Amino acid sequence: MNQPYVPHIQVPDYVRNRRAIEWVAEIAALTKPDAIHWCDGTPAEYDRLCEEMVRSGTLLRLNPELRPGSFLARSDPTDVARMEDRTFICSQQKDDAGPTNNWMAPAEMRATLAQLFDGCMRGRTLYVVPFSMGPLGSHIAQIGIELTDSPYVVVSMRVMTRMTARVWELLGAEGEFVPCVHSVGAPLAAGQKDVPWPCNREHKYIVHFPETREIWSFGSGYGGNALLGKKCFSLRIASVMGRDQGWLAEHMLILGLTAPNGEKTYVSAAFPSACGKTNFAMLVPPPAFPGWTVTTIGEDIAWIKPGKDGRLYAINPEAGLFGVAPGTSAKTNPNCLNAIRSNTIFTNVALTPEGDVWWEGLTDVPPPHLTDWQGQPWTPESGRKAAHPNSRFTVAATQLASLDPEWENPDGVPISAMIFGGRRSNTVPLVVEAPDWDAGVYLGATMGSETTAAATGKVGVVRRDPMAMIPFVGYNMADYFSHWLKVGRAAAHRPRVFLVNWFRTDAGGKFVWPGYGENMRVLKWVVERCRGRAHAAETAIGWIPGYDDLVWTGLERFSREQFASATSLRHDEWADELAQHDDLFARLGTRLPRELVQRREAIGRALR
Ligand code: GTP
Ligand code: SPV
Ligand code: MN
Repeated sequence: MNQPYVPHIQVPDYVRNRRAIEWVAEIAALTKPDAIHWCDGTPAEYDRLCEEMVRSGTLLRLNPELRPGSFLARSDPTDVARMEDRTFICSQQKDDAGPTNNWMAPAEMRATLAQLFDGCMRGRTLYVVPFSMGPLGSHIAQIGIELTDSPYVVVSMRVMTRMTARVWELLGAEGEFVPCVHSVGAPLAAGQKDVPWPCNREHKYIVHFPETREIWSFGSGYGGNALLGKKCFSLRIASVMGRDQGWLAEHMLILGLTAPNGEKTYVSAAFPSACGKTNFAMLVPPPAFPGWTVTTIGEDIAWIKPGKDGRLYAINPEAGLFGVAPGTSAKTNPNCLNAIRSNTIFTNVALTPEGDVWWEGLTDVPPPHLTDWQGQPWTPESGRKAAHPNSRFTVAATQLASLDPEWENPDGVPISAMIFGGRRSNTVPLVVEAPDWDAGVYLGATMGSETTAAATGKVGVVRRDPMAMIPFVGYNMADYFSHWLKVGRAAAHRPRVFLVNWFRTDAGGKFVWPGYGENMRVLKWVVERCRGRAHAAETAIGWIPGYDDLVWTGLERFSREQFASATSLRHDEWADELAQHDDLFARLGTRLPRELVQRREAIGRALR
C-alpha cells in the first residue's frame, strides 16, 4: 500500500483530511512562508488579525463612537478592481473554455504558476482558511480551503463566508474541498519593511482549472481577485459543478416580497457588477405600499437547484456583503446604510477629519475636508473623486435588518420569477416579460450592459453580458445557454422570466425612471404576473405593462408620457440591437443552441 507523504509541518490535531494536509505542505514547500497559521474563524482571531493590521498600517481603525468595530483599508492604486483580462479558465480543451474566456493550456499555465509561486510568501505568514459556501453541512453547500499570505483576505473571508474550524470536522479524513491558493505576490527579503497594501504590480493571474476544480490567484489583494470563495469558487468553479450536476450558479440577488395579506414570493435577479443588485435586494417600498415588505436572502450570488416538487430552489452561498460604496445613501439604500454603521471593513473610501467614512453620493453636500482613498488631502474643489468608484464595504449579512428568516434554510427558497437587467441608456424598456422559458433564456443570453468600475478597463461601453455572467462562467458560454434551457425543461414549474432596465436616459442624459425604492412598482407587477393577476400587452420581444397596469400612488409626477418613453420599443434601435445579438451568436459559434437562433428569427419577424 502507498503510504501518504507525511509532511514536516505542524498540523492541529483536529485536522485529519489527508489530501488537505499534503496539499498545505506542498504549497508551503513551494511558496516558502516564514510561518503557517491554521485559522479557526473565532472572533478572537479576527480581532487579533485586525489589531496586527492596524499596527502594520494596512488598516486604520475608524472612530469607535461614529463607526464602532470598523476599519478603513487603502489599496495600492493599481489594485482596485477585478481584472478580467488577467482571469483564465484553463480547461484541457480550449473549446471548453469557449470564446468569451481567456484560456491557456493547463500544462503551460502550471509551469507559469510554479515559477510565480516559488518563494512568493517569503517573509510572510501562510494562513490556512477553511470555509463553507452555504450553511455548514447543507446538501447544497460546498467546502473550500484558501491558502493566502494576506491577513486582509483572511478577515474578509471571515465576513464573506462561513469560516470556521468546524469545516475540518465535516471534511473528516477523506472529504472533498476546492483548493484555493492565493498570494499577493510580494515576498519580503530579510529585514525588508512591508507596505500597507502589498501586491504585484507586474504579474497578476486569476486562474481556474475547471476539471480539477482548483483556483490559483497571484498578485492582487482586491475583492473577487483575492476573496476566492466569491467569484472564483461560487461562480466560475460552481458553474462547472452545476453543469455536471444539473443546477445553476448565478450572479443573482435573491429577495422575498411579502404582500399585505402575507403571501410571499421569492424572486432572483441578475444585474451586472455595480448595476443595482444590492439596492434591489433590500429595497424599501415607498409609503404608497403599506404592508408590503422586501426581505433579503442574498445580494450577489445564487445557487439554484431543482427541488422534488419540480420548482427551482435558491440559496445564497455567501455570508456577507462586499458592496459598492459610492451611491449608497439613506435615500437610495437605507437598509444597507444601517448595516454598515458598525463592524464593517471599508476599502478605498474617503476618511473624514472625525475618523468616519465618506463617499460620493453619501450626502448631497460633500464635507469641506477629507482624506481621499489614496490618503491625500481632498476638498470639493480638488476636481477628483474622494472615494474610488469601486470602493466597497465588507459586512456580515447578519447585520442586515432586512435579512429573510429563511436565509439559512439549507433547502433554499422556491423561485417564482427571475429578472435580468442591464445598464442601458436606450433600447431596452423598463420591463418586459418573456412569453416562455426559452424566450426568457434568450432575453438573458443577449443582455447588454454598459461596463462599470467594478472591473478594470473602459467604463460605460455597451457589451454583451449574458445573464450578467460574462466574466464568471467557468466554461463555454454556448454550453451554458444549453444548460439553462435544459434546467428549465427538467423543471415542472419554471420561474417566469423578465428583463428590466432602470437606466434609460432622456435627451438631456438624465435617468427617465426614478429607480431605487420606486422599483417596487415594477416588482409588484412582476410578482402579480407570476400569480396570473396583472395585465400586459404583447410586443415583439414579450409582454410589457401599460401605464394603468402599475400602481402610481405617491408618484403622480411620473406622467403617462414619461412612462411611454420608459417602455417604448424603437424599431431602429431594435434593428441595431438584433444585429448585436447576431454578432454575439456568431462569436459563440456552432455550439449555440438552435432554440436561441429560432427565437432571434421570431423576434426579427415580429419587429418587421
Ligand atoms: P456587484 O456587487 O458589483 O456585483 O454589483 P451590484 O449589482 O450589487 O451593485 P450595486 O447595487 O452596489 O450598484 C450600485 C450602482 O447602481 C450605483 O451606481 C447605484 O447608484 C446604481 N443603482 C442601483 N439601483 C439603481 C436604480 O434603481 N436606478 C439607477 N439609476 N441607479 C441605480
Ligand atoms: C462584482 O464585481 O460583481 C463584485 C465584486 O461583486 S468582486 O467580488 O470584486 O467581484
Ligand atoms: Mn457581483
